[in-house]
Amino acid sequence: MEKIGVYINTKDVKGHIDPEIFGNFSEHLGRCIYNGIYVGEGSSIPNTRGIRNDIVDAFKKIKLPVLRWPGGCFADEYHWRDGIGAKSARKKMINTNWGGVVEDNSFGTHEFFDLCEQIGCEPYLAGNLGSGTVSELSEWIEYITFDGVSPMALLRRENGREKPWRLKYLGIGNENWGCGGNMRAQYYADEYRRYQSFCKNFGENKLYKIACGPNADDYGWTEVIMQNLSPWTANGISLHYYTVPSGNWEHKGSARDFSDEEYYTTIRKTLYMDTLLTRHGQIMDRYDPDKNIGLVVDEWGCWYDVEDGTNPGFLYQQNTMRDAIVAACNLNIFAAHCDRVVMANIAQAVNVLQAVILTEGAGMVLTPTYHVFDLYKEHQDGDSVYCFTEKLTEGDIPAVSCAASVKDGVLTVTAANCSLNKDIEIAIDIAGTAPSGCTGRVLNAPVRALNDFDAPDNVTIKPLDGISLSGNTVKVVLPACSAAELTIK
Ligand code: AHR
Repeated sequence: MEKIGVYINTKDVKGHIDPEIFGNFSEHLGRCIYNGIYVGEGSSIPNTRGIRNDIVDAFKKIKLPVLRWPGGCFADEYHWRDGIGAKSARKKMINTNWGGVVEDNSFGTHEFFDLCEQIGCEPYLAGNLGSGTVSELSEWIEYITFDGVSPMALLRRENGREKPWRLKYLGIGNENWGCGGNMRAQYYADEYRRYQSFCKNFGENKLYKIACGPNADDYGWTEVIMQNLSPWTANGISLHYYTVPSGNWEHKGSARDFSDEEYYTTIRKTLYMDTLLTRHGQIMDRYDPDKNIGLVVDEWGCWYDVEDGTNPGFLYQQNTMRDAIVAACNLNIFAAHCDRVVMANIAQAVNVLQAVILTEGAGMVLTPTYHVFDLYKEHQDGDSVYCFTEKLTEGDIPAVSCAASVKDGVLTVTAANCSLNKDIEIAIDIAGTAPSGCTGRVLNAPVRALNDFDAPDNVTIKPLDGISLSGNTVKVVLPACSAAELTIK
């Protein structure tokens, strides 16, 4: 059996892992919100004010820290006033980005904040810069967060919410280099500066303002945005990077029917996230050496061809162990870059792209990707510590990816074995603490294995057996194609 060493020093803290790194993204797209998270109060599916109870419970279980909404591309066409007040009077409109379906606005600001309150997560709003106005965005903030006497606070009260909500994360535009207005970087930067000036902090509420950052490796965009921002005008900039196996947006590849070669290509492409974070981070370092401006990877994940027979505009795809390995590698990468990466939001939460949850009628499936978020949840709010993994290559990719953090004296190590056929023993050498015990959990199945409505527990977390502890070394075998969590006390 192949063996490699993993070297951890718990005294060498690299940074704090913001819980928000384990966030999700929900858009008015396909069946993410409607017929997904939101089924309406009249539904026979158990719900609280129209929001599915099983979905809320599932998100609570993984301690979902933050949820981004309402887009995506939808955000720059969204006019928040259409989604408040009596539902029967709400405007019906066309969702031009996603399938041309009717958007009846029955899920709006109140419903989104209700969802976040039920889950216990931070709301992250994506504001409309592309087709909205400065005053529209400014008034949305006032509507949501102002406690005093003002037209917007009064309107909120008339709509049944006496107390303001707390809103921290505010994106100002989405993909403004593309669907959010096809702007050039300098033009967007100027617009951003104008919009953000009128997004006020009311009372105790303090906004964390996020500017639209680059698409993948568009380093020029990052350069211009960073030249034009300061920690006084922006707290963060976003980054979007999707893993598209074929690299061809017309034929991206199938979610469930793929060759071993395509699998390895997918992993190689997803590991490119590390390069992107390093290079965008280097540009940011030149303008912001103290790392006051965070990098917010608010869209990431695998993007495949839609499932046969589904609406091409709904972006519905299945989710296999390949996606679990992708998630495990990316979350390890984010943890390693936690000195700059403050948030990440997988695209998307329910029924869209690399979804953590799938639904069909009353049925609900937790995907392999969901279980990775479960495995990794103890990293939230931990301190990322030095973790070096010896390189063992599988084709042209490193076979094992690891991350380590310490919280309340407990060391959490997460690991992915990307190899399809090699079990690999890792010997974790721990400096800085004397370990007294170790337990583990693992997600392991053939790479094309998935959870479906007739077999929802095909891929689930199991205890990881065979862990040995001797002195400062923990040894365990990571099965081929697996993601694991080790808890070392
Ligand atoms: O997540 C789907 C879409 O991908 C989003 O709406 C957009 O921001 C991105 O291009």
